[in-house]
Amino acid sequence: VKIAVFASGSGSNFAALAEACKAERIPAEIVLMVTDKPDAFVSERANEIGIPIAAIRPRDFETKKAYEQAVLEALQEAQVEWLILAGYMRLIGPVLLEAYPERIINIHPSLLPSFPGKDAIGQAVAAGVKVTGVTVHLVDEGMDTGPILAQRAVDVIDGDAERTALAIHAVEHELYTTTLQNLFKK
Ligand code: GRF
Repeated sequence: VKIAVFASGSGSNFAALAEACKAERIPAEIVLMVTDKPDAFVSERANEIGIPIAAIRPRDFETKKAYEQAVLEALQEAQVEWLILAGYMRLIGPVLLEAYPERIINIHPSLLPSFPGKDAIGQAVAAGVKVTGVTVHLVDEGMDTGPILAQRAVDVIDGDAERTALAIHAVEHELYTTTLQNLFKK
């Protein structure tokens, strides 16, 4: 299976997935790393690993539609079959949703439907919940909505967002790997 990973930030999930694909724990090949933020650390990681980068800036386009069409061209060029979102901080629009129906997956650092959107870990700590977690789900037109594929609970550590985030990220890397493993082996 040929996949593209979409990321806007540090790319720790991207790195974990790249390692799992290389070790054949996930039966897939990352043929492209798509980023909307060319300067994000994830680009350095992709360079280091040797995965091609499509760095496409939305602000270079007049509309979201035109931006997504440029992304779609890069995906089609690389014959990408599934889109794997890993800290891609944008809502997927109709162009990509229609090109990849039920073929777009996202990971989110909460037990959805609780705490969708930005800073889910901060939201959970502020709400005072004792347990939060990680969700892997199919992407639809909503923000962090769409059918849930897998979830795992993570304790909130002493109301401390930073320490909780470390625990969450470790679980993310593992849960994303096992979920994609199961999905692609069929
Ligand atoms: C992760 O927590 C992911 O769930 C969220 O953004 C974060 C990205 O982290 N959507 P990284 O860039 O993979 O390190």
